[in-house]
Amino acid sequence: MFKDHRAPAPDPILGVMQAFAEDARDGKIDLGVGVYRTADGRTPVMRAVKAAERTLLDTQETKGYVALSGDPAFHAAMRGLVLGGVIPSDRVAALATPGGTGAVRQAFELVRRVRPDATVWTPSPTWPNHLAILDGVGMRRRSYRHYDASSGGLDREGMQADLEGVAAGDLVLLHGCCHNPTGADLALEDWRDIALLLAERGAVPMVDLAYLGFSDGLEQDAVGLRLIAAALPEMLVAISGSKNFGLYRERVGLVLALCDGPKAAAAVRGTLAWLNRQSYAFPPDHGARVVTTILTDPALRTQWEEELTEMRERIDSMRRGLADALREASGSDRFGHLAGHRGMFSLLPATPEQVETLRREHALYMIGDGRINVAGLTPETLAPAARAIAAVLR
Ligand code: LMR
Repeated sequence: MFKDHRAPAPDPILGVMQAFAEDARDGKIDLGVGVYRTADGRTPVMRAVKAAERTLLDTQETKGYVALSGDPAFHAAMRGLVLGGVIPSDRVAALATPGGTGAVRQAFELVRRVRPDATVWTPSPTWPNHLAILDGVGMRRRSYRHYDASSGGLDREGMQADLEGVAAGDLVLLHGCCHNPTGADLALEDWRDIALLLAERGAVPMVDLAYLGFSDGLEQDAVGLRLIAAALPEMLVAISGSKNFGLYRERVGLVLALCDGPKAAAAVRGTLAWLNRQSYAFPPDHGARVVTTILTDPALRTQWEEELTEMRERIDSMRRGLADALREASGSDRFGHLAGHRGMFSLLPATPEQVETLRREHALYMIGDGRINVAGLTPETLAPAARAIAAVLR
């Protein structure tokens, strides 16, 4: 059976993670995989998470199954966090999944079952796993322009022009905030324009929300998606709790399917539960329960929000620090646009060969397309990283 088998190409992000782990050099710098790091290079368990886990350890009396769709209290807590009450709950179907990746997968699976001929429009560039999952699910896909490499910002005109091609029943994937890999986010007027265009076309948005709270704050980061949710009859949201709760390995994810009324929502709930059943039956519960405990306990929630603010501020200060250090190292403003990006990621104008040179000669790791995770920087590594980048990206 496996004699002539060929494995698919490895994921470009996880390959960097492994190569970094295997590099024995002192002073290596990891700007690869999108995880948060402290100034001393750790990805710690958040204090609010530790406290919630302690509560669970003391009070949880069973590890019996919950429900195929996950715990309704988790759905409600996340619905409130993300949608802030703009949509009545009887219009929303929710599904707990293993991580944000599981949510993306199940959302695409849902659309494939309901509308097998839909085209899924993805921003160019996008998280490579979006494309891999779409190909795995077997859906038609097209890309629309998102990023203008010459300005280092959003390609507004290109995006509008490409999205003119969207047809009724198509799905348009949007990044809720902290665009991965470019860091170039939609402004409120872009969300407005997209809402108008999709309403006119009868197309459905799907928002991938993996970094809520990492751009400007929990409420501010949800404004665009809430605008679009209020303007359109249907929408999908794929949410991750990996980054903003630091629960990476616990696999906390959720699909929210906003439907045109309670009857449609009930049917979608049934299909989503069925998708979980025939994928892995029950979704993981521990991380979701930690999140619910935090979001429903006022003191824990305050503590979590404070920690999230600390993380956001550290990322922001590394981002500004890198832009300054690059200005000094390159003697120019050609990397100045980095300061305006949001979240962990920015895309450097690096060729794959330059990325390889940075890795080989400077022990500086980034993704092959030039994506950097600024959370991997520390006050000590800002200057050497900037010198290496300026020297190689001449
Ligand atoms: C990333 O983009 O680096 C993260 O979302 C981790 C992953 O699974 O790719």
